[in-house]
Amino acid sequence: MSLNSSEAVMYNDTVVRQFSIMAVIWGVVGMLVGVIIAAQLYIPELNLGLPWTSFGRLRPLHTNAVIFAFGGSTLFATSYYVVQRTCQTRLFGGSLASFTFWAWQLVIVAAAVSLPLGFTQAKEYAELEWPIDILIAVVWVSYAIVFFGTIGKRKVKHIYVANWFFGAFIIAVALLHIVNSAAIPADFMKSYSAYAGVQDAMVQWWYGHNAVGFFLTAGFLGIMYYFVPKQVERPIYSYRLSIVHFWALIFTYMWAGPHHLHYTALPDWTQSLGMVFSLILLAPSWGGMINGMMTMSGAWHKLRSDPILRFLIVSLSFYGMSTFEGPMMAIKTVNALSHYTDWTVGHVHSGALGWVGMVSMGALYYMIPRLFGQKQMYSVKAIELHFWMATIGIVLYISAMWISGVMQGLMWRGVNADGTLTYTFVESVKATYPFYALRLLGGLLYLGGMLVMLWNVLKTTSNGQSVNVPVPPVAAHA
Ligand code: HEM
Ligand code: HEM
Repeated sequence: MSLNSSEAVMYNDTVVRQFSIMAVIWGVVGMLVGVIIAAQLYIPELNLGLPWTSFGRLRPLHTNAVIFAFGGSTLFATSYYVVQRTCQTRLFGGSLASFTFWAWQLVIVAAAVSLPLGFTQAKEYAELEWPIDILIAVVWVSYAIVFFGTIGKRKVKHIYVANWFFGAFIIAVALLHIVNSAAIPADFMKSYSAYAGVQDAMVQWWYGHNAVGFFLTAGFLGIMYYFVPKQVERPIYSYRLSIVHFWALIFTYMWAGPHHLHYTALPDWTQSLGMVFSLILLAPSWGGMINGMMTMSGAWHKLRSDPILRFLIVSLSFYGMSTFEGPMMAIKTVNALSHYTDWTVGHVHSGALGWVGMVSMGALYYMIPRLFGQKQMYSVKAIELHFWMATIGIVLYISAMWISGVMQGLMWRGVNADGTLTYTFVESVKATYPFYALRLLGGLLYLGGMLVMLWNVLKTTSNGQSVNVPVPPVAAHA
């Protein structure tokens, strides 16, 4: 866009609006698929006897939709919003930001079509076949150019800590994706990994764990570092702690991957290394949680009246919980019980629904009215309702999975005096059924909350209009 010198330069919020709306829509879609597969585990007939709707194909559709479509769109929206305001400059790269939006949506649609059709590289969270992987790499490099280009032309000397986290997330995901997706194409939608055997497993879980560490954690910490202080209207508790937190977290995450491969053919010392680094990871994780929580000092009363703040702070509590549970599960002897059970699924969703989901919702509720020239969301009561539906949903989901997970682990290792197994496998499946029903109920509540959010967002956007905010002419507080 060419601007004449008398015209004010505007922030590029068009792309932020697009990603924010799509985050809500993909959230509904991804969680709906989550509810469907939760229902299939309870009522297997819901597979419909068709390959396209079978659990095995819909499960990766769920994980890809919630992580990359819902989580990814939220991360694009918030990082573009935050980097412009904290650098006090328009996004770098002109229409490249718009390209990242349309091409990312294309990736999502390609995933939504190819996964039910059964095209997969069979690597968890990296299922998409090679042509889609190439498109992802192109989008990601463009994203890096827009983001770091904006940092490069910033009007303030200082780089706010949220941008450090977003920046690390962008660089790490590029590295992880390109290395783990290296494959030899056999035909248009079929390829073979460039790595073999145990090396393939090691690279996959170096990727998998760091997808958690950088996609589901560092990026969302960037969100936390901007939106918590903004909503509380206080500066972050300790800037010094945020820097220590940043370097300790990104250094430690890289080594913890082997905890996904305990008791496998992976060399034993690598498993122990993964376990030790996972235990160390508790410290930086809690450093970040404490930094966010302590920002509330003297303002705790705001939680009573502000449901957006409640989303943000409860998300931090779940972050603290799941990053305590994770290191415990990484201890080999604990993992001997938890691995292969629903305990893992419970851990995943306390992080995913509690931390990633709630911090995203808080940030989207903060941004959307501002992006559409409204003082607040159409209905604050509806935000309140969403908060309670989500919280109760999570509690039902994760407590059901904890109980069924520990129960499964104990049943599988039950041995009679004569050395035979106390329970058959099918007995453990049968015992799990009530908990699958409870999880389904929790999931329905969580999805219901998301539908309330969609309604509220549609009302807010149709009452308002897209507003473009001018970049301040001289550096001011963002
Ligand atoms: C309505 C909400 C949701 C429901 C009902 C739901 C349900 C499910 C179910 C039934 C599974 C398969 C579990 C199994 O194989 O035994 C699953 C897996 C998974 N879901 Fe969700 N989910 C929801 C939301 C989310 C969200 C928001 C995220 C991420 C941000 C997420 C991330 C994952 C991941 C990463 C897995 C794979 C777990 C593993 O391999 O251990 N889910 N989900
Ligand atoms: C200090 C932080 C954390 C540590 C040390 C940790 C550790 C672990 C361990 C030991 C497992 C089980 C591996 C297995 O038995 O296969 C696991 C699974 C998982 N965790 Fe965490 N966790 C942490 C935080 C988180 C957070 C915050 C999230 C989500 C936002 C998360 C998402 C997952 C996912 C998706 C899996 C399932 C992977 C799979 O098998 O598909 N973790 N984690």
